[in-house]
Amino acid sequence: MKIDIVSVFPEYFDVMNLSLMGKAQDKGLLTITAHNLRDWTHDVHHSVDDTPVGGGAGMVMKPVVWAECLDELLGLEPGEVAATEVETETDETGDAAEAGTVPGNGVPAEPSSTDVPDAGDAHAPVLIFPNPSAPLFTQADATELAATDHLLFGCGRYEGYDARIPEYYRSRGIDVREYSIGDYVLNGGEVAASVMIEAITRLMPGFMGNSDSIVEESYTGANALLEHRQYTKPAEWRGIKVPDILLSGDHGKVDRYRRDEALERTNEIRPDLIAKLDCKALDKADRKT
Ligand code: ADE
Repeated sequence: MKIDIVSVFPEYFDVMNLSLMGKAQDKGLLTITAHNLRDWTHDVHHSVDDTPVGGGAGMVMKPVVWAECLDELLGLEPGEVAATEVETETDETGDAAEAGTVPGNGVPAEPSSTDVPDAGDAHAPVLIFPNPSAPLFTQADATELAATDHLLFGCGRYEGYDARIPEYYRSRGIDVREYSIGDYVLNGGEVAASVMIEAITRLMPGFMGNSDSIVEESYTGANALLEHRQYTKPAEWRGIKVPDILLSGDHGKVDRYRRDEALERTNEIRPDLIAKLDCKALDKADRKT
């Protein structure tokens, strides 16, 4: 799998050379490249953001710079540059000088018949924008994306990125996803992208030494439950004993004990997951629990 990441802090992704992700790169299973968005700027300040149209706090990342970068990394011909990328002067509040207008003509370029990539092409990258105001990224999304061969993450900073960027690339036939990793706000998309990349890549065939550990995990499959608790030796530590049944050697009983514990813990900690369970995946003993 090839993963490209665009960020104004590409150094955030140096950690991807460590541990299992580093090994996967050494083995040639994975190639991760972090690009600096400022490399696609042309002004002396390398500016990537501007004031929000309509006013408000903070800065918004400019579509003009992102588009140059994404066109290149997606292998697209540039869009209709003249029509959409003319910058409008803004007043101090960040409002467009002419009331009711937005920079450029506010309309994404119509895709031209010559440069629309084939959306059905398995090699077309999936373009992912971390965004706290997007649907939650789940294990099901990670599983789906682990089967793709090229991902491109666009990490926003400040108040986020201009909403026309994902809209425009969708109009060009790209599979564009926006995901939140949780109901909290981070300083930018970098940490969220790292979380998603780890969740996705560890599901790639050949990534983990022991693929059983993936099968038994929380949030996996139609039967998604929180995992049962784990213990190792010694059987008693500081007066706390491992549950006797786990020492019994009876695999049937151990499996039942673990399954009951998973159901009980999920019911207590994440009742929303119990409500989503597929009833067909429950056995008779589960229903008693
Ligand atoms: N950017 C800032 N906060 C985020 C979140 N919770 N998820 C995804 N991207 C983000």
